Amino acid sequence: MQASSSKVHSSQAGVHPGLPALVKRHASSSWRKPAQQVDLPALDLLDKALDKHRGPVVLDSFCGTGQSTAILAARYDNALVIGVDKSSHRLDRRHAAPDNSLFLQAHCEAIWRHLVAREQKLLAHYLLYPNPWPKPGHLSRRVHGHPAFPLILALGGYVELRSNWQVYVEECGVALHLLGQPSRIAVVPGDQEALTLFEHKYRESGHQLWSVTATLP
Ligand SMILES: C[S@@+](CC[C@H](N)C(=O)[O-])C[C@H]1O[C@@H](n2cnc3c(N)ncnc32)[C@H](O)[C@@H]1O
Repeated sequence: MQASSSKVHSSQAGVHPGLPALVKRHASSSWRKPAQQVDLPALDLLDKALDKHRGPVVLDSFCGTGQSTAILAARYDNALVIGVDKSSHRLDRRHAAPDNSLFLQAHCEAIWRHLVAREQKLLAHYLLYPNPWPKPGHLSRRVHGHPAFPLILALGGYVELRSNWQVYVEECGVALHLLGQPSRIAVVPGDQEALTLFEHKYRESGHQLWSVTATLP
């Protein structure tokens, strides 16, 4: 990872005008993309871990090298804390983490769908610094613009998404609002321990960091 990082540049200055229609369309249908072969081993590992654990579950989606997974596993020490990232490159360099953590190489959307199908609710779900996809045409690649977004609501629990792009967290807050969920947008305090490698890098580069949080039923 580079030592410093440039701020997100986008021709989009505020919430994408197409967001409400997209979120409502996704909420009125289920995401039907078939499971990808590449995700099947992770889904199998997930089943085995959940069958064994049968307690509270915390999800760390887009965990990268898993610094946040390790911190969250220490914080939620009676929960199974699952870090998910699609990149073997990132996961191969993962942090040492407590025994109550599990790392899965998979697409997060596939994990969300599998958990919903198992009727597994979450105690908490962290989505820390997902790729911003700053081009307006990339709206549907952002977490809240993706057809799998309603699955996040179905998983319940405390949800926290962080980004160094204010528009991203505002859009996520609007998407939650459109689906009837109140949320809170705030600046991530700069004096807290960095939860992730990217958070650390963004702080070192002088970026303002934003969070959107919600407590889902
Ligand atoms: C900007 S990095 C942030 C990583 C980590 N959360 C951090 O803050 O250090 C975004 C991560 O999302 C992962 N990623 C992107 N799309 C994904 C997807 N659909 N499913 C799982 N991981 C994904 C990438 O591999 C990358 O590690």
